[in-house]
Amino acid sequence: MLLENLAYPEVEDYLKEKDIILIPIGSVEQHSPYGLMGTDFIAAESIARSVGDSMGILVAPTLAYGVSPHHMAFKGTITLNPSTLIEVISDIVRSLITHEFKRIIFINGHGGNINTLKTTFQRLKAEKLPGYIDVISWYDSSAVRQICQDIFGDGEGRHATPGEVSITKYLRPSEFAAKASDEATLNKPKYYWPLSSVEMKTVFPDGRMESAPWLATEEFGGRIAAVAVAGLEKKLTEIMNLELVNASAG
Ligand code: NI
Repeated sequence: MLLENLAYPEVEDYLKEKDIILIPIGSVEQHSPYGLMGTDFIAAESIARSVGDSMGILVAPTLAYGVSPHHMAFKGTITLNPSTLIEVISDIVRSLITHEFKRIIFINGHGGNINTLKTTFQRLKAEKLPGYIDVISWYDSSAVRQICQDIFGDGEGRHATPGEVSITKYLRPSEFAAKASDEATLNKPKYYWPLSSVEMKTVFPDGRMESAPWLATEEFGGRIAAVAVAGLEKKLTEIMNLELVNASAG
């Protein structure tokens, strides 16, 4: 169920039944020579839309851009400042709350967004905004970590992972014809975080972070996405059953 395909009377009808909406968010950043620039938002969008379909939950248009300054030494990366994202997220949430959505859940595909999202939610709640606002990263569950560990072992790594690259291969197989596919060295350097863009390229020269994306396949991508969808369905069921504080009375 996509918000972009509804007319406003249909949104009114939806709100008589449900008060939850999902917003996929990702990044536009390099994912090594093996992966797509859009990996993070493509994966988050697909997983959010699958859950939206299976649970009859409305999904808002994807916020493709995220906070990726550490990838800016690689061509094609487009980053938002955290302060920009705070304003964008605040405006989106305030709009949805105005329409009486009460459970606003960002389905995230990029670790670099999380601090900013949580800071934004704190700021909105400090303004006494009602409702439940949260971020769930599709990859951040024990079941997803387990299947990636089982398939890729030590090669899953932290960025341009074979898990996320597999999901995009599953979704857009024809886009991989010209991407790198050869096995390379799996490096596990010591480093601190955050890194500047120049530090990042020095420590991780081809943009991978401790990962082996050459292990990615379409078939693995389908399996990992299914595990992520099942985990999200469970979490969202809990969120839909959560009793919200009614602070309007008195
Ligand atoms: Ni990614």
